[in-house]
Amino acid sequence: MRKKIIAGNWKMNYCVNKAEDFVNEIKDAINTDEVDVVICPNFVALDRLSDLLDGTNIKLGAQNVYFEDKGAYTGETSVCMLASVGVNYCIVGHSERRQYFGETDEIVNKKAKKLLEKDINPIVCVGETLEEREANTMFDVVEKQVRESLDGIEEAQMKRNVVIAYEPIWAIGTGKTATAEQANEMCRFIREVVSKMYNESVAQAVRIQYGGSVKPANANEILNMSDIDGALVGGASLTNDFVAIVNY
Ligand code: 13P
Repeated sequence: MRKKIIAGNWKMNYCVNKAEDFVNEIKDAINTDEVDVVICPNFVALDRLSDLLDGTNIKLGAQNVYFEDKGAYTGETSVCMLASVGVNYCIVGHSERRQYFGETDEIVNKKAKKLLEKDINPIVCVGETLEEREANTMFDVVEKQVRESLDGIEEAQMKRNVVIAYEPIWAIGTGKTATAEQANEMCRFIREVVSKMYNESVAQAVRIQYGGSVKPANANEILNMSDIDGALVGGASLTNDFVAIVNY
């Protein structure tokens, strides 16, 4: 039985003080061991939230990382730096990074592998655009993203550490959620791709989240689908709605 994982992707929101206030407000209500709960604030809030979350079941996640160990890469943050402030998870390949910052599957793959070297669990995002869905090419698009982003990752790491997040771009921040059936269909397809890449035992172990306009009103239905093992929540993770989603 795969344990559900619900992560809040705060994106570029909340300065450090506000981040602390908000976590203080919700942390007792989301401190559960029934699901894995992850909060992904911006880089500058990581250190302070790490202290705040110490001693709780809530894990800390980053939203990005660079794949080199150190050096002249102005503005970038290494895996070692994330590890030094207690980061357990890191989102890679979010569609906003692919769209605005030119992140390719090859880059996502390098980042995921680098994170795994330091035992930080990558949350690898994939998902199609509206045009791709309307043209019915979404399965090809997502299969390519999954194969290239996960290329060369070891079987044991796939089972234990990697999380895949299916986020259809047309459902992100639009209020337009994929139906639970659409979301489950793609998550099941991703599991089949993983089975072809590795084997059925890896496919049954890897956790696949859905993301895109998840809110309290749809969380229960989505999280009860057969192949959806959690949610990557954007806007709703910035409010008390996150408490309701975690306790779906
Ligand atoms: P929303 O929940 O705001 O649609 O964002 C989803 C997302 O991009 C999470 O990574």
